Amino acid sequence: MERTTAIRAIDPDDLDSERSRAVFDDAVRILQDGRLVAFPTETVYGLGAIATNPEAVVRIFGAKGRPPTNPLIVHVSDLSMAQQYTRTWPPTADRIAEHFWPGPITIILPRTSMIPDRVTGARETVGIRIPSNPIARELIRRTGFPLAAPSANRSTGISPTTADHVSKHLAGRIDLIIDGGPTNVGIESTILDLSGEAPTILRPGKITSEELKAVLEEPVLSVEKIVPTNQVALSPGQSAVHYAPQTPTIRLEPGEPWPDLSNLTTPIGVIRFGSSDMLLPTLDQAQATWIHLPEPVIAERRLYEALHRLDDSNATLILVLMPPNQPAWTAIRDRLRRATRSLSETGPDLTRSK
Ligand code: TXA
Ligand code: MG
Repeated sequence: MERTTAIRAIDPDDLDSERSRAVFDDAVRILQDGRLVAFPTETVYGLGAIATNPEAVVRIFGAKGRPPTNPLIVHVSDLSMAQQYTRTWPPTADRIAEHFWPGPITIILPRTSMIPDRVTGARETVGIRIPSNPIARELIRRTGFPLAAPSANRSTGISPTTADHVSKHLAGRIDLIIDGGPTNVGIESTILDLSGEAPTILRPGKITSEELKAVLEEPVLSVEKIVPTNQVALSPGQSAVHYAPQTPTIRLEPGEPWPDLSNLTTPIGVIRFGSSDMLLPTLDQAQATWIHLPEPVIAERRLYEALHRLDDSNATLILVLMPPNQPAWTAIRDRLRRATRSLSETGPDLTRSK
């Protein structure tokens, strides 16, 4: 059913103003009614429902067009809430919480029966995190329940870092978008599985494997493998196609020769990363939009904004000049590999869509 989606702003530095309180009141009412509210976190905007309400959680999958097997992250406002919904709490979880929460890391632990099957795709574990965005935490606190929230985009699309991005994907499908301005971190949380033998990174993010090793003082494994889209994965969000623009988007690894663009008569967009003086071909400036993201923190913050912008422009092809294969770029490279095709996967017509 088509609904009217309200977009209402809250100033993250003024949660207690009359205006902010009115928005929180409405948001809490909608959530307690079993409906959906998009809200900012420090990583990307989330599409929230009360995690303990299976009917509400089902609506998330409907609004996103997400396969029900792909589990949702549960957002809590404090440590005691996290412990209330997990069955075990190993010392590693304490270390992560102490060093990184509130913040952009999700841990996977055995769930209690208060977390419904719908949230976890019937897995016995739950992904849980305390976001650092004050609007997110205040919303959870006022609701009094954890919020299940995936990124607030249509399944496999580009993640949202502004309320406008959310609206582009989900207007008419949800009741309310809380606008808290552009997100600060810009890419999704690191996902760390603490339910098995060894801590294992299921999705790289802002908090790096090196930082985790230093804090946990033990080896940290990484699931590097990208699995085909339809296959059930350890972390199904790690499927091959994800975060993808509608516009054909091709990646070039450092040192890879440029494709022949001489026959291309339509506009293109180019995103490049890092500070290296790589050899760039001369492209007709009227025909090309360049975006340069020189260092990892800025690149994380602005990656999705850049992809949204080029996808919404008149470009018929997006070229992504990949950053180097170095630890600081791991999370960015992970997202870009899923958002793009390599040149060898692409036929002679570069602008042909997937
Ligand atoms: O930063 C973030 O994590 C954002 C904000 C909104 O918090 N959320 C986010 O959610 O990225 P989503 O649904 O787009 O990605 C969640 C990922 C998926 O890859 C999912 O498979 C994985 O978390 N996940 C969730 N619960 C899991 C579990 N129990 N076991 C394994 N993977 C899990
Ligand atoms: Mg997502």
